[in-house]
Amino acid sequence: MSEVVSYRRQGVIGVITVNYPPVNALGHAVRSGLLAALEQGQADADAKVLLLLCEGRTFMAGADIREFGKPMQAPGLPQVIDAYENCRKPVVAAIHGTALGGGLETALGCHYRVALASAKLGLPEVKLGLLPGAGGTQRLPRLTGAQKALELITSGDFVAAPQALALGIVDAVDAGDDIKAVGLAFAQSVADEGKPVRRVRDLSDKVEAAKGSDMFEQFRAGLAKKARGLFSPFKCVDAVEAAFTLSFDDGMKRERELFTECMASPQRAGLIHAFFAEREVAKVPGLAKDTPVRDIDSVGIIGAGTMGGGIAMNFANVGIPVTMVEVKQEALDKGLAIIRRNYENSAKKGRISQAQVEERMALINTSLSYDDFKDVDLVIEAVFENMAIKKEIFAKLDEVCKPGAILASNTSTLDIDEIASATQRPEDVVGMHFFSPANVMKLLENVRGSKTSAEVKATVMAVAKTINKVGVLVGNCHGFVGNRMLHKRGAEAMALVNEGASPQQVDKVLTDLGYPMGQFAMSDLAGIDVGYRIREERRKAGETVEASWMDKLVEQGRLGQKTQAGVYKYEDGSRTPIVDPVVEQIIADFRAEQGITPRAISDQEILERCMYVMINEGAKILEEGIADRALDVDVVWIYGYGFPAYRGGPMFWADQLGLDTILAAVKTYQDRVGGAQWQPSPLLEKLVSEGKTFADL
Ligand code: 3HC
Repeated sequence: MSEVVSYRRQGVIGVITVNYPPVNALGHAVRSGLLAALEQGQADADAKVLLLLCEGRTFMAGADIREFGKPMQAPGLPQVIDAYENCRKPVVAAIHGTALGGGLETALGCHYRVALASAKLGLPEVKLGLLPGAGGTQRLPRLTGAQKALELITSGDFVAAPQALALGIVDAVDAGDDIKAVGLAFAQSVADEGKPVRRVRDLSDKVEAAKGSDMFEQFRAGLAKKARGLFSPFKCVDAVEAAFTLSFDDGMKRERELFTECMASPQRAGLIHAFFAEREVAKVPGLAKDTPVRDIDSVGIIGAGTMGGGIAMNFANVGIPVTMVEVKQEALDKGLAIIRRNYENSAKKGRISQAQVEERMALINTSLSYDDFKDVDLVIEAVFENMAIKKEIFAKLDEVCKPGAILASNTSTLDIDEIASATQRPEDVVGMHFFSPANVMKLLENVRGSKTSAEVKATVMAVAKTINKVGVLVGNCHGFVGNRMLHKRGAEAMALVNEGASPQQVDKVLTDLGYPMGQFAMSDLAGIDVGYRIREERRKAGETVEASWMDKLVEQGRLGQKTQAGVYKYEDGSRTPIVDPVVEQIIADFRAEQGITPRAISDQEILERCMYVMINEGAKILEEGIADRALDVDVVWIYGYGFPAYRGGPMFWADQLGLDTILAAVKTYQDRVGGAQWQPSPLLEKLVSEGKTFADL
């Protein structure tokens, strides 16, 4: 008997218990343990019904992802599940926590399922670039019908137990919280009522009902846009379709073939890297796991604009009261109205209830005075990017806030140490860089100053988790990790257009790579007047600032999406960029003025210059210790800028392309284009000379 799976009889119930923390993943020990326990249960003449349940926080949360990419040790999961389904005694699965992937597939192999009302069920394999490979694509549609199975399997979304009951995935839901008691009671009722073995594979009504329908074609067409660039969602559809066109056994074979294709795809490797990277970023090197964390029960926010309001919503969403301070009452009223509108929109879409809208609004207080910050645990400043103003604010906060309060700036570029120098408590000062829209984007780039205490670093990382963000702790430099790399990409994109590319060509290369939008569409979204104002300030300060065709757009009132015209034009109420001949002319005139003869630029050159310049900068960021690990850079880009997770992040992608290829191109552009951005990173050179990758660091 394996240590991780035990068999014990209670009355007429043979109880099979899995205990493999943290999430009872179906690794080799669990799989073989499950088989051994099943044999024992079958042989136990006094056991009338078998009950499968798990210890700890959850039912089995899936196959053990750490085994992927290595040769699979027998028994495979489909074999284990087959054995359960073919058991001569009824088998009940009792589900608590999350029954996911292979975990849910195991439960589907059992004959009855009971779940705690708090449990969640799902087949999230698609999020890892896979499809359910242990019968999920064949059994789930036999319970729910094709449409719902397609939706669940291609989205990877979880369903709550009551919904699972309505869909026919589970047979009963119990409001209790003791999974063993609930499971035993249900199994006892199966025994008492003499319920038979009931195999999902034998159910046929849902399969018959969908015969001859064109729903699969329709579903594929609908998916084409949603799953743009992705491999596995389409394989999921193929696999589910097999449940309707083939026998169960042949459907299982088809599922296995498709699963193997997904397993071999580079997208699977990228997505699994992203899965673990998202968890690794929380473990900050040098920050002890037991570092004390301060309680954050109330938050102050300076600024009720787009950023301040979005940040406030994050805290209200999780029940933490917020006080927003502005200079003028109108600004507060406007900010509150926008927050309310956002919440009302969520309510209209059914994401939250009207009662929740009111609860959340009630947690957002406003004030015109910093005195209202005297008791808060954390203040986040979210005002215009101006060092003098920020220093003035932090000096005031230092006077007002209680000892131990954390003073954070949402600056996206400025020096945290200089901001901290305006206070007597630099150890309590930190950067908390949210990404716009702050209530939506998952990244929280936490920036450590040179004096920020370990406790404050640990607390802001914990805050990220509390507000359901992915926190990454980075060092202090202009633009930190994300914007520092973005600025390099932006400058290169501008240079490419100056030389002859069109903005739409640059954007298409980036969206083809998998970004949700290109550089110039993104500028329009953020507002191109922002960069203009910064250039104007620098000009006023006597700096030489390069001329730009973007300045001409701004001077004509084309500020981006907000004026329905920027680099592109926009139709009423639409965010779709439309190429505007006016802009093409402005760019052509600009080139003529500058004496530039435009040349045809290949997509490959655009890709290399926009992406490799970022990777080279990412390598510099690593060698300077601004990011601790390449995976920190990857997570910043996936969650802050929409870098396609299926490529694993820019540094993982670079490793896949080969760092020697990247370095050779960097050197080419150093000669051809020049500039500090093309000076090869010494770290990149070192890794190439040693035949290593970023992942080896
Ligand atoms: N395999 C291996 N390790 C896993 C795992 C899995 N399936 N799921 C979670 N873990 C690990 C995490 O890496 C983490 O490890 P760490 O503590 O060393 O960082 C630990 O378990 C706890 O995970 P979380 O920090 O994510 O804990 P949460 O409580 O926030 O979330 C969860 C728990 C909802 C189960 C979440 O971990 C999750 O979504 N896991 C992935 C589930 C999944 O994708 N399952 C399908 C796997 S593929 C499959 O089953 C193929 C099959 O069809 C053949």
